[in-house]
Amino acid sequence: MARIPEETINRIRDAADILDVVSGYVQLKRRGRNWFGLCPFHQEKTPSFSINQQKQIFHCFGCGRGGNAITFVMELEKLEFVEAVQRLGERYGIPVELSGTTDPRRKATVQQVLDLCELAADSYRKNLQGSAGAGVRAYLEQRGITGSTQALFKIGYALPGWDHLLKAAGARKFSHEALNQSGLFIAGDKGPYDRFRSRIMFPITNIAGRVVAFGGRVFESDDPAKYVNSPETPVYRKGEVLYGLSLTRDHVRETETAIIVEGYLDLIQLYQAGIKNIVAVSGTALTERHARELRKLTGNVFLAYDGDDAGVRAAVRGGYTLLRGGLSPRVVNLPPDLDPDDWVRKEGPEPFLKAVADAGPLLEFHLSHFQGDLKETGDMRRFLDEILQELVQVPDPLVRELHLKKVADLTGVDERRLHETLQRIPRVRVRSEEDEAQPRKDRVIIEPTRSNKAQLALISLAFHEDDRLLNLLLDHAREELFTHPVLKNIWRVVVTALQQETIPEPGGIMDKLSSDDERQVLSQALMSEGLSADEAGQAGDVMPLAIDCLTLLHRDALQRQIDQRRQDLRRAEQQASQPPADIVAEVAALQRRLADLGEQFNKYRGG
Ligand code: CTP
Ligand code: MN
Repeated sequence: MARIPEETINRIRDAADILDVVSGYVQLKRRGRNWFGLCPFHQEKTPSFSINQQKQIFHCFGCGRGGNAITFVMELEKLEFVEAVQRLGERYGIPVELSGTTDPRRKATVQQVLDLCELAADSYRKNLQGSAGAGVRAYLEQRGITGSTQALFKIGYALPGWDHLLKAAGARKFSHEALNQSGLFIAGDKGPYDRFRSRIMFPITNIAGRVVAFGGRVFESDDPAKYVNSPETPVYRKGEVLYGLSLTRDHVRETETAIIVEGYLDLIQLYQAGIKNIVAVSGTALTERHARELRKLTGNVFLAYDGDDAGVRAAVRGGYTLLRGGLSPRVVNLPPDLDPDDWVRKEGPEPFLKAVADAGPLLEFHLSHFQGDLKETGDMRRFLDEILQELVQVPDPLVRELHLKKVADLTGVDERRLHETLQRIPRVRVRSEEDEAQPRKDRVIIEPTRSNKAQLALISLAFHEDDRLLNLLLDHAREELFTHPVLKNIWRVVVTALQQETIPEPGGIMDKLSSDDERQVLSQALMSEGLSADEAGQAGDVMPLAIDCLTLLHRDALQRQIDQRRQDLRRAEQQASQPPADIVAEVAALQRRLADLGEQFNKYRGG
């Protein structure tokens, strides 16, 4: 297996600050010495995901996950350790050389699929820039997309023909499996051929900016499909990815607002016009999962779909999806014959921005675009049905309630009647998307016994900069004292660092732990301590606590030994008449040690 030199890993760990890495994915707010945000690993409404920058660790008090910057990237992007380190290396400009092989066939399939996507993006890009791409370049320019915007969005061109990309990939020796799974080829009777032909190519990137899929717009061919998009692949889930977000995320965060558009070209045109707090769905309807991704960045979202009937219907549908996903969107009114791209190209950004500023809540948009006359009972009934069918699926009762009130206001129908009607509508969703989201990992629970608490405390204490304390731990905190298997494993790693005369760095220790459980427990211990340490004060003397913990654990350990020996004695007595003298002596000695336990720590007490 490919390996990365320890020194490189250390450099990357130093460069990849946990706060920086995590804030690429999660909106964080400072609270005391830690930072908090909504956990990216589980569904939650109030932030329990926390970062301690000083310790370089994260921990979620909700789902229990914890670790350092590298393990964060591993879990979130579903990468192997080596891949996560490479990813961070790329991001922080530290070259990562593997001391393994560079034959692509030896790499994991997922990694190969990513490489293939990158290769495809490069090759499409070259086609666009070459002589065969002149027509496409002219077309894009005529649509107002400048060369530098084309470069920024890595727009490319898939040539007419069946195997341009296939040949390029073949030369690089990718595995069959990777070719199959990449979504870039279609399996035909006579073998695979290029999926994208004669198309303007829009690479779709994941949140980390890696190309994971493509949308292809027809160009000078009689293919009736205006767009062909990548299918779902191991690296591309349509319901999760938002087109453009890796470029626009910071703008969304800065403005605390996101505008959602329908098309690749809408997004590109708006971005070029300076409206950068923007995302697009890529050839699919909005999902609750999209809503969740957005909610990590902002609670303020606007839908800006085409002004035609289809666009309005899609906006209403998408709007309710966002509502189910915990966002209360506003919907922008566009001129009936324009999409954002056309509008901004024709009239510049101002009219569009004004429409965004004037955008009203979803319910009002729905009402104002309802095709019917609300003075007619039948139409009113139909409108209420439409809305209640949507509201009944909103999981948050408070959001349901508030919207019901609003419907009552807007229509003049008594709120209690609406309520009764709502109660009678069956909730059609058998299983929500939320339930399908990643299987919940079991939390490790450390029973809060006195012994476990003492073991945990010792682990935390090992991270304090205090020579007397560290000597005490090295002399007396022996591995046998740690009875909980997870805590014992953590201690083993911690004590190894201590023996190398370094104060363990939490971030570094995280990589050395061999299981998720261990990372969960350690991050929790350190983070909880971070929360209370403010009052205790760094200067507060930690020695008495350490001595208490050690005393307790030594007492337990001695007691266990004594119990053990007594059992041996009893067994021996049943066989012989005389109790074996050596065991009797041993028990006596153990009991003396138990009685004198406090004394061995005397030299550490006081100043
Ligand atoms: N779309 C798709 N498949 C189609 C049509 C559309 O996936 N057959 C998606 C694409 O993501 C597209 C978006 O829906 O960007 C909007 O479609 P549309 O308004 O028809 O295309 P535009 O992007 O506006 O393209 P153009 O302006 O060139 O017509
Ligand atoms: Mn368009």
